[in-house]
Amino acid sequence: MDELDTLVDAARDGFARSASPAELENAKARFLGKAGRITELMKGLASLPTGEKKARGAAINQAKQAIEAALSERRQALAAAQLEAQLAAEAIDVSLPGRQRGLGGLHPISLAWERIEQIFGSMGFDVADGPEIESDWFSFTALNNPPNHPARSMQDTFYVDMKGEDGQFLNLRPHTSPMQIRYATAHARRHADALARGETSDIRVIAPGRTYRVDNDATHSPMFHQVEGLWLGENVSFKDLKVTYLNFCKAFFETDDLVLRFRPSYFPFTEPSAEIDVRFQSGPLAGKWLEVSGSGQVHPQVVRNMGLDPERFIGFAFGSGIDRLAMLRYGVSDLRLFFEGDIRFLSQFR
Ligand code: DAH
Repeated sequence: MDELDTLVDAARDGFARSASPAELENAKARFLGKAGRITELMKGLASLPTGEKKARGAAINQAKQAIEAALSERRQALAAAQLEAQLAAEAIDVSLPGRQRGLGGLHPISLAWERIEQIFGSMGFDVADGPEIESDWFSFTALNNPPNHPARSMQDTFYVDMKGEDGQFLNLRPHTSPMQIRYATAHARRHADALARGETSDIRVIAPGRTYRVDNDATHSPMFHQVEGLWLGENVSFKDLKVTYLNFCKAFFETDDLVLRFRPSYFPFTEPSAEIDVRFQSGPLAGKWLEVSGSGQVHPQVVRNMGLDPERFIGFAFGSGIDRLAMLRYGVSDLRLFFEGDIRFLSQFR
């Protein structure tokens, strides 16, 4: 084999053995560099007789081109291999299943709240909403519970360090009863006018919402939920309260197998007043009387404070614990579970 062919083979072999661009550059230097074999051969041309120079020079050039071609081929191969390695290292395994985003759900209190709105809505009750920071007038005085009245101590109220328009400290409403006054006052004119025209007119509303008291144990939370109910008209009686509340309970608890008891009580804004107890005749809670609501015939002074004539407007009100209703409906024994935000508890209501 010709010396040049051997050289080209040696170069190809050297390039092929070069596993990295740096090694390849070293190999290149051995053949094509300043002190490389090709350069040396070129220098050797000088000592040849003129007649041989041309052919020898052409042969060396050919060998040089072959080596250069081999070099560039190897460079490309190394670059391609490097790219492939990089792609492999940065690869995203699209076959990995994605992390499941669990389906959210409504909080049990929200579920109970929505049920209550839906049931009373079906009985013709409007739904009203009002402020949680309330004035003394709406929380107490208008509800026939004036300053220094002993009934004020029935609720251990949070006060705000700021006075309202009535000059009294504002409070975090301890019950939803202020909404009776707010709603009725806002609609009093319309109803009085309707009655004056000889039309029938009644006020029928529920007001669910957050309420606050200085209380904290297994059955009391400083923040809790109530739903206020108010039905005033020309002829709304205690009997209507009984029927309305019984129908509500049957719908809410999805059973006809329950009875109510109206236990005499005292509230400044109603006369007579009653606590409403429910007893299930079957199921896990069967046999026990369970308190769910305060209620009564709206006191004439409260009707007056609404801007209505108590000779024309009579009716009932009630204030029920939404949390209590939810505990009974969902069989929850500790109220605090509702407010701890434990996903293991909450996800059971999805
Ligand atoms: N506001 C009372 C409470 O929180 C509950 C109540 C009792 C509301 C009688 C009423 C009612 O509307 O008529 O203890």
